[in-house]
Amino acid sequence: MKAILTPELSARWDEPDSFTLAGYKRAGGYQALPKALAISPGQVIQTLKDSALRGRGGGGFPTGNKWSFIPQGDGKPHYLVVNADESEPGACKDMPTLLGNPHALIEGTIIACYATKAERAFIYLRGEVLHVLRRVQHAVDEARAAGYLGNNILGSGFSLEIVVHAGAGAYICGEETALLESLEGYRGQPRLKPPFPAIEGLYSCPTVVNNVESIATVPYILSYGPAQFASYGTERSKGFGLFSLSGHVTRPGQYEAPLGITLRELLELAGGMRLGHRLKFWTPGGSSTPLFTEEQLDVPLDYESVAAAGSMLGTRSLQLFDETTCVVRVALRWTQFYEHESCGKCTPCREGSYWAVQLLDRLERGQASEAELDKLLDLCDNITGRSFCLLGDSIQAPIASSAKYFRDEYIEHQLRGGCPFDPAASALFTSESLVG
Ligand SMILES: Cc1cc2nc3c(=O)[nH]c(=O)nc-3n(C[C@H](O)[C@H](O)[C@H](O)COP(=O)(O)O)c2cc1C
Ligand code: SF4
Repeated sequence: MKAILTPELSARWDEPDSFTLAGYKRAGGYQALPKALAISPGQVIQTLKDSALRGRGGGGFPTGNKWSFIPQGDGKPHYLVVNADESEPGACKDMPTLLGNPHALIEGTIIACYATKAERAFIYLRGEVLHVLRRVQHAVDEARAAGYLGNNILGSGFSLEIVVHAGAGAYICGEETALLESLEGYRGQPRLKPPFPAIEGLYSCPTVVNNVESIATVPYILSYGPAQFASYGTERSKGFGLFSLSGHVTRPGQYEAPLGITLRELLELAGGMRLGHRLKFWTPGGSSTPLFTEEQLDVPLDYESVAAAGSMLGTRSLQLFDETTCVVRVALRWTQFYEHESCGKCTPCREGSYWAVQLLDRLERGQASEAELDKLLDLCDNITGRSFCLLGDSIQAPIASSAKYFRDEYIEHQLRGGCPFDPAASALFTSESLVG
């Protein structure tokens, strides 16, 4: 596949007024909305189904299908909740979208609400990012003043209000049911599923929860048609999306490209690894997706290919680490994150994350034997599949995958009685030094 960029959401981020109503309209914004309002809600849902857009929040669930689960004629209020909690280590695509192009999200929200017959939408944003919150609120105010929100939008008879809600900054509140709890004013802890939010969501009413990027992509699909969107990507992973490159790369940032692009191609676009260094390991989709190495440089970054290669596409958060990085330390840092963010509701995750940190810390300091590494891996096996939500399952991903590819490096810590990457260590360790 030829490496191409498809800037749509990110096309105007560097224009000074990209985030304003005027800037958005100058670029053709708010032209998808009348098209959507001119057809029936069911036809809008069918358009989304035809586009084959899969949710961009990590799971990849088909967006049109999710909308079609909302019961019709049930007499209950319906809600749309936009998940803008983005907190996973490495994930950094939604915040720039909200900063640079908030009106795409608002236009997408109006269309999604029209399709699912929701008269109130919530944008749940992590509270620490105050500048993003202000910008989104400003865009909502502009849209309302222009008649895109409120009563009888564009004379269609459809009415909608959008509430921008600041979360208190907890990773677990990105999990859709914990988010709903938080939005209702309760402690952010996941709910048992089923019932799924489409049946019993916010205030026990039918609710669609979608990621920022999923909803912000909707105006493109309505404007250019589902076939145009589906012409990008691979057989089962259609369209384009934001790939976030961070870490030891020459030009980190957002690369909007068709699904199925490879890391090798993205690295070419990003100027390669930083000068004089080579790729050691990387995450295809954030810290909760198993690590890859150079071996997977040519794996197409679509849901199926990444899964077949042993990981997950997740949020396309590509964190790149070069040979100067201690993989044990990285696994420890991420596990500390999960320990901190565990909501404590279930024992395997609450206790398991604590013990995983203890073992990893000892391994990183070179104080633990190989048997303790095996104990750690066994512990992870007991967390995965036994936790209440996917945060618990995520704990295993960096640990098991780093041990799979870099077991020698774990053992080298013990042999040296400390981290081989510690500046105080006599020579820089690379896993190659063990091979020879
Ligand atoms: C621990 C955890 C954190 C999550 N954080 C986010 C997040 O910040 N943003 C997001 O869109 N989805 C997040 N998700 C996934 C959501 O539960 C949900 O699947 C998603 O918002 C659905 O949107 P989509 O269908 O548009 O992808 C998280 C899931 C888990 C288990
Ligand atoms: S797996 Fe972790 S985050 Fe999820 S409910 Fe259990 S304790 Fe909470």
